Amino acid sequence: MSPNLTTRYLGLTLRNPIVASSSPVTGRLDTLRRLGDAGVGAVVLPSLFEEQIERDEMALHDLSLVGHEISPEISGYFDPFTGVEVGPDGYLRRLQAAKEALDVPVIASLNGHRPGGWTHHAELLENAGADAIELNVYFLAADASESGRDVEDRTVDTVASVCARVSVPVAIKIGPWFSSVPNLVRRFGEVGAKGVVLFNRFYQPDVDLETLTVGPRLVLSTSDEVRLALRWVAILHGRVPIDLAAAAGVHTADDVVKLLLVGADVVTMASALLERGPEHVTDVLTELGAWMHEHDYEQIDDLRGALSQRAAPDPGAFERANYLRALTGYAAAYRPPR
Ligand SMILES: Cc1cc2nc3c(=O)[nH]c(=O)nc-3n(C[C@H](O)[C@H](O)[C@H](O)COP(=O)(O)O)c2cc1C
Repeated sequence: MSPNLTTRYLGLTLRNPIVASSSPVTGRLDTLRRLGDAGVGAVVLPSLFEEQIERDEMALHDLSLVGHEISPEISGYFDPFTGVEVGPDGYLRRLQAAKEALDVPVIASLNGHRPGGWTHHAELLENAGADAIELNVYFLAADASESGRDVEDRTVDTVASVCARVSVPVAIKIGPWFSSVPNLVRRFGEVGAKGVVLFNRFYQPDVDLETLTVGPRLVLSTSDEVRLALRWVAILHGRVPIDLAAAAGVHTADDVVKLLLVGADVVTMASALLERGPEHVTDVLTELGAWMHEHDYEQIDDLRGALSQRAAPDPGAFERANYLRALTGYAAAYRPPR
């Protein structure tokens, strides 16, 4: 009998733990349909950005002022309370289309880092049919006058203001550069979040030596990167009251098995699907099922967390002891190149 891959995430039932994360693959109806056909457990749409919402609202405000001078009808047309062409309507339409096209949960994504009027879009996403909302609080703390505590408080306030607006579950996608990830995740749970996505991947800028300019350079992930999420999922599993989604570097069935073993509720994929196409999901699911069968696991819950820090025979493997062992092991084996 083939293993049962059914999984719970954010209170939703997923047919398996593979989630297609925000990327151009989830931004088109044709690839969304292919993901559904390939067997994906859930999809996260590309983000609607705080900046995008605020820019649109500013533009509408300016237009409505102009409208007042010219014609009251024009003003009415752009009045946010009439609900006509307000803000990023295109996003809501795409969300509705995705809901109609798929029979798996569709998670909408908001991307912002401070409380503000933009958070009311969470409600619009819920009303448009989102099964859950992922809030990506992508932020780089580059201001020397702002303390780590200030950044964390603002992040938690943002999470609280989004969670307060909706009744669908909210998951928070964060970067790894917080001084106490466990404390922050616990605080997310206290203000109503149901899950955390570990982690955002930061696209480091690069210098172009020909043009002498600095710009973005998007490089897709590899499986090597999965170990950052692996460590933190292992540490957090069973210690925080919210679900854990592992992100960044998930490419193969081996990656998926490892992350489930350390305690992930779901795993998310973007780069692998961009590179190999939506049908890669089917291959990973087939290999996941085969691995479970070979190791006598009948359902995902039987293996989830078996190697988390709490369950592992060697909890130090996830902390400083691992660092010391890695360095001393390497140094002992090192032979200089000739
Ligand atoms: C081209 C591209 C677009 C992305 N757009 C978004 C986005 O709109 N919102 C978001 O939260 N993450 C976005 N991501 C990040 C992915 O969802 C994912 O978190 C990241 O790529 C790490 O996972 P991976 O190793 O599976 O690629 C994007 C990634 C790529 C490569």
